[in-house]
Amino acid sequence: MLLHGTEALKQAAHTGHAVPGFVAYNLETVSGITAAAEAAGRPVLVQAGSSPFKHAGRRALMRLALDAAEHSGALIGVHLDHSRDLHEITVCLEAGYTSVMVDGSHLPFAENIALTKEAVRRARDHGAWVEAELGALEGDEDVSTDAVAETASLTDPRQAAEFVEATGVDALAVAVGNVHGFTKDPVRLDLERLALIHEAVPVPLVLHGASGLPVGQLHGALARGVAKVNVNAELRRAYLEAVRTALPAALPGSDAVSLWAAGRDAVRDAALEVISRLSPSPEGRAG
Ligand code: 13P
Repeated sequence: MLLHGTEALKQAAHTGHAVPGFVAYNLETVSGITAAAEAAGRPVLVQAGSSPFKHAGRRALMRLALDAAEHSGALIGVHLDHSRDLHEITVCLEAGYTSVMVDGSHLPFAENIALTKEAVRRARDHGAWVEAELGALEGDEDVSTDAVAETASLTDPRQAAEFVEATGVDALAVAVGNVHGFTKDPVRLDLERLALIHEAVPVPLVLHGASGLPVGQLHGALARGVAKVNVNAELRRAYLEAVRTALPAALPGSDAVSLWAAGRDAVRDAALEVISRLSPSPEGRAG
């Protein structure tokens, strides 16, 4: 069933967990993520768009994600990830998305505030919540990178407080050394900065770029106000590796169904593994 509001994020943070935001591109990734939420009995966000819209088409992927969430026994929010486009945001809100991320992180501060305020205004009309970003991450949403974050792009705690107050945003994505995609060297987060941001803002924090993040760093973030953790590259890698492994057996008989199933099951297993990491339990800390 659809997960509305940020209460699940606040509840997760209260118990040392976080809600994962998994990026979905197609039927297999949506159903793999949904199956993981059902198996774990934990809420998740399916992040369908805006980059995946380029692959699947907006209407098709929106309907797919919403239908899977509505008919699942698990609590699943449908979220628009990284959108700079108010029209796209409005279309998703009208379709029934439960949350959107308006990404004005590339804009000057005042323009980011103006864009985010307008997204919040539109979301309120639809009962949806809004995530915004302050500071900029290195890396790419869809392509692996060995880039490392620049100090200059990190989130400033005082600006974060001003931003949240001025926009009324419900969750804030931060840049504290996190990087989109896999990196050559292990990422080290600026946990002191994260603690200051957590003290300064009253809303749940969001950590993007969690693929490959050392588990100690991840738990450091969970202990400092991070209530939503975005994961994409780990699921893509699991999907691609499973498809590669299944391909030789599938090819002679053109057995595409077993190939797609292998991809879906790999996404489910990778998502389940992430969910166990987003937990304060001893097994979640292992690795
Ligand atoms: P990763 O690809 O590093 O997991 O980042 C995902 C993300 O932040 C999506 O917004």
